[in-house]
Amino acid sequence: MVRMVESQMTKAKGPVGVFDSGYGGLTILRQIRKTMPQYDYLYLGDNARAPYGTRSFDVVYEFTLQAVRYLFSQGCQLVILACNTASAKALRNIQQKDLPQLDPRRRVLGVIRPTVEVVGNISKTRHVGIMATPGTIRSRTYELEIAKLSPDIQVTGEACPMWVPLVENEEYDKPGADYFVRQRIDNLLRRDPLIDSIILGCTHYPLLLGKIHQYMPAGIHVIEQGGYVAESLKDYLFRHPEMAERITTGGTARFLTTEQAETFRQKATTFMGETLCAERVSLG
Ligand code: DGL
Repeated sequence: MVRMVESQMTKAKGPVGVFDSGYGGLTILRQIRKTMPQYDYLYLGDNARAPYGTRSFDVVYEFTLQAVRYLFSQGCQLVILACNTASAKALRNIQQKDLPQLDPRRRVLGVIRPTVEVVGNISKTRHVGIMATPGTIRSRTYELEIAKLSPDIQVTGEACPMWVPLVENEEYDKPGADYFVRQRIDNLLRRDPLIDSIILGCTHYPLLLGKIHQYMPAGIHVIEQGGYVAESLKDYLFRHPEMAERITTGGTARFLTTEQAETFRQKATTFMGETLCAERVSLG
C-alpha cells in the first residue's frame, strides 16, 4: 500500500503554477513561456483581493498560502510566486514552514533572488534604486538579498503605492498615470543622484514601461525581471531534472482569477497576444 502511494506520488505531474495578486504576473509568465514553450502553465491572479502591496505581512502570507494550496490541488508540482510582494512577505515561511507539511517534493520559488543576481553585473556606480510596492520596500528584502551578493552596492528603495492600482484599473497608459510615474522617479533620483540602475521590483510595473521610459533620464538602466526570472527557472529545471520530469508538456496555458473571468480574459488576451480562456475560482 505504502509502495503504491509512493509510486503514485512519483508519477504526479502537472503544469507550472504562476501566481500573482492580479495581472502583474502575466509579465513573468509571458517571458517564461517564451523561454520554455513546451510546458503547461496554470496562472492564478487574485484580482478580487489585489493590490497586496499595502497589506500586512500576515495577510499577504495567508492569501499567498491559500493560492499555493489551490495550485497544488490543481496538480502543480512547482509554483512561481510571480509577485514581489508575496515573494518578500510569504515565500520564506511557505518554503520553511508549510512545504514540509504540504508536500516536501513540491517547490515554491520567487522572483526576487533571480533579479538580485544580475544587478551586481549591471551597476557601474554601485548605486541602485528599487521601485516596488510599499510592502516590498518595507520588508527590505531587496536590500538584504543584494547585501548578500554585492555588499558594495548602495540600495535606495522607493515605494510607489499608486502604480499597481493604475495597472489594475487599466489606467497605466492613460494621461493620469504620468503624474504618479514622474513623481516617484524624480523622488528616487533626488534621494540618490548617483543611481545608474533601477530595478522594477513589482511584476505590474512593466505595463507602465512606456511612461517609465518617458520620465527616466537617459543612461539609467531599467531592470525588468521577466527575462531574468525565466532564465533562472530554466537553469533551475536543468539542475533539477527530477522536477522538470514532473511538469506536463502540452504547451498550454490556463488562466484562473478570483474576479470576473471575462474582464480577466480580455485583458490577458491583449497582454499575452493570444486568445485565452479564463475561469473564476475562489480561494480560502
Ligand atoms: N505584482 C505584485 C508585485 O510584484 C503587485 C503587488 C500588489 O498587488 O500590490 O509586487
